[in-house]
Amino acid sequence: MVFNKKMTVIGMLAILVLAGIAASAPPKPTYKNLKVLPKNITHDELDKVMDEWKAALGVRCNYCHSPRKDDPKKMDFASDDKPEKDIARKMYQMTARINKKYFHYKQGDTTAIAPLSCVTCHHGKEHPDNVSVKK
Ligand code: HEC
Ligand code: HEC
Repeated sequence: MVFNKKMTVIGMLAILVLAGIAASAPPKPTYKNLKVLPKNITHDELDKVMDEWKAALGVRCNYCHSPRKDDPKKMDFASDDKPEKDIARKMYQMTARINKKYFHYKQGDTTAIAPLSCVTCHHGKEHPDNVSVKK
């Protein structure tokens, strides 16, 4: 009897401890395939970045993202099938490096505006103009 009660109490405690661990564990990241953006980025923040890139290049989401294989009417945002997506990652890193090295701006600093961003070069175009090689 006593033994059983003890086991029940220990069992209850174990459940409480486990529940505590589960509750304090960091939330599961929302996104599956982030390599350059912060893994814990919120939904709103990611949306803002994507809208910025879209506008800076004058494109739509499907310029970098490919459709789902099983349902081509929907997008597979985690897929890396389109090379433009990986180019965008490299562009993001390049932009961050230039900002840091030449403008002493730290990526993600919300107290200042980044000196250089995609739109600085792209001006709403996929390919920035290079006037000197145009006839
Ligand atoms: C210029 C290219 C580009 C455009 C345009 C773009 N994205 Fe992205 N998107 C990316 C890249 C690059 C990543 C991955 C970032 C990383 O690796 O950290 C990404 C990641 C995402 C993810 C996270 C997917 C996951 O689970 O990993 C979502 C959701 C997403 N984009 C939605 C959108 C939406 C919606 C639009 C249109 C409003 C859009 N994107 C436009 C380049 C782009
Ligand atoms: C310092 C100027 C500069 C900045 C800043 C910049 N880009 Fe670019 N980007 C270029 C140039 C120049 C090209 C064209 C390269 C070429 O012709 O091969 C290019 C090409 C691209 C392409 C490929 C276009 C294609 O048709 O193949 C993507 C995608 C892209 N940039 C996304 C971005 C994103 C997203 C950002 C911001 C995170 C960004 N770029 C910031 C200069 C810049």
